[in-house]
Amino acid sequence: MSEKLLNNAVNKIRKRGIFKADIALVLGSGLGNFVDALSKTTRIPFAEIPGFPISTVEGHSGELVHGFLGDVSVLVNSGRVHFYEGYSLDQVIYPVRVLNALGARNIILTNAAGSIREDYAPGDLMLITKLLNLTGHSVYPDAAQPENIFDAELMDLVIQTAHGVSVPLKTGSYAGLNGPSYETPAEIRFLRLKQADAVGMSTIHESMAAFQLGMKVLGISCLTNYAAGILDQPLNHKEVMETGIRVREDFATLLSELVQVISLKAQ
Ligand code: HPA
Repeated sequence: MSEKLLNNAVNKIRKRGIFKADIALVLGSGLGNFVDALSKTTRIPFAEIPGFPISTVEGHSGELVHGFLGDVSVLVNSGRVHFYEGYSLDQVIYPVRVLNALGARNIILTNAAGSIREDYAPGDLMLITKLLNLTGHSVYPDAAQPENIFDAELMDLVIQTAHGVSVPLKTGSYAGLNGPSYETPAEIRFLRLKQADAVGMSTIHESMAAFQLGMKVLGISCLTNYAAGILDQPLNHKEVMETGIRVREDFATLLSELVQVISLKAQ
């Protein structure tokens, strides 16, 4: 994904009147309703943005939405692509590069994830404090990867903000695998042993790319199901979508408040 393509994407978006962004968000499976809180929105389907990969997964509507929360200028990628869809890592992280090139200094990456702990129930939100990159790939160029991808100050703000709006929030480590199938119960026992709290198939490469670009990064998971083998029943994509729908009001409340708190802090 060349600089030229990136510039074409940025120019195309600017032509739609989008010039400045205080904060960017990437919304995962079933979590797209946050954009309803925005005013004066401009929507650009991903298919119209040069280089943007298009998701094939149900629940990812696939558009870039710009709008305002109060006077905070917000850019949202509603939908994302996954490595398992056959896209290269370059393609997976390209939308984050575009958000960065549009001037967003802060980014909140969200996803749907499976819970690896009995005490983290479907419907809980989890602030990601650490990543376990188990994808076998890395976009990070150096031999030594940074331990702390997520911004400590912003993480504190998320915890305070969640408390302030009475949205329960867990914290924990997110293990990222390639998918596309859910894990086996034995794999989940392994991940539990390795102190992962949630498991998913996105966010890893986007977080690392955003960090590398110098953005302040946050990750929040919506725990949509117990991971395989935690309960004595099989899991399915329908459950993941249904839980997303059930908790998305809470999620949108938290994100709206957070966007405003972060922008105040950044001033
Ligand atoms: N495993 C992996 N990815 C997921 C899960 C899961 O249980 N739930 C939502 N995304």
